[in-house]
Amino acid sequence: MRGEYCVGGASFLSFVALLLLIFVHVGQINTSLVPHGIAMAKVDTSGFGKALSEAILDPDQGLYTTNYTSPLGQRNGLRQIYEFGLYSYCAYVNSSAGTCTNRTIADNFEPYVALTSDMFTNYSQYSDTMFANTTFINSSYLAYNSRVAYYFILLGTIFATIALFTGVARRAMLFFISTASSIIAALFILIGAAIWTSIVKKCEGVNTWEISQLDGGIISGIIVSYGSGIYLAWAAFACLAAATVPYMVSCCTFRG
Ligand SMILES: *[C@@H]1O[C@H](CO)[C@@H](O)[C@H](O)[C@H]1NC(C)=O
Ligand SMILES: *[C@@H]1O[C@H](CO)[C@@H](O)[C@H](O)[C@H]1NC(C)=O
Ligand SMILES: *[C@@H]1O[C@H](CO)[C@@H](O)[C@H](O)[C@H]1NC(C)=O
Repeated sequence: MRGEYCVGGASFLSFVALLLLIFVHVGQINTSLVPHGIAMAKVDTSGFGKALSEAILDPDQGLYTTNYTSPLGQRNGLRQIYEFGLYSYCAYVNSSAGTCTNRTIADNFEPYVALTSDMFTNYSQYSDTMFANTTFINSSYLAYNSRVAYYFILLGTIFATIALFTGVARRAMLFFISTASSIIAALFILIGAAIWTSIVKKCEGVNTWEISQLDGGIISGIIVSYGSGIYLAWAAFACLAAATVPYMVSCCTFRG
């Protein structure tokens, strides 16, 4: 009987982990309610226009667009908020209205490219100078790490699924597989979540970055922050790590 309780507990934890991971995957695939609420990273550019016009001593003219449907990455104007998911990113002109890029497997996290590809060329050229030497502008580093993290999260999700489905069968061999899968899933999600946490943390350097020395220093006006997807990934890791204990106990004691 104790074995059965263990399997139940482990299955429940695996199920919760899988659910959380599915939410992580759907983040920013479109602008509807749930995907909109889930992102790995957020970039709020609303203060940048003012900072830029102070830095270049020129009123900002047409930096932002209010047309929320105009396609991204085609110099149609900066949006107020950019949110990055695993497959695409979306940009919003206010808290609700926005548009997304096409979905790609292992989409690159390149927030600087996302922002500057929406600006007119003269503004993106100013930005290239102002953000030189920040991690935020280091797109190849961010893209590489986000791709690696994506594959860890994808494999972690697959192993979590295997752990869940093999855990319900009453076979010793399958308990061994579910225990092993649960451990591997926890490890992979840990690595994926840690990489994402680290790259967003490094991008946060831009929040206090001075784009000009005028007036004793003008702060960028760009705010990078963690999205809820990172917290969901950490929660999924916690569930998978917790599930390994009852899986192991079932594996050793319950052989139906
Ligand atoms: C907004 O952008 C879309 C797509 O580019 C375009 O079809 C539409 O006419 C624009 N709306 C306005 C008000 O400019
Ligand atoms: C956001 O912008 C859209 C389109 O301009 C508008 O319809 C909507 O009411 C705005 N929402 C808020 C919360 O301001
Ligand atoms: C996105 O997908 C649409 C439809 O498949 C296509 O027309 C468009 O060119 C794509 N955009 C980019 C940037 O790849």
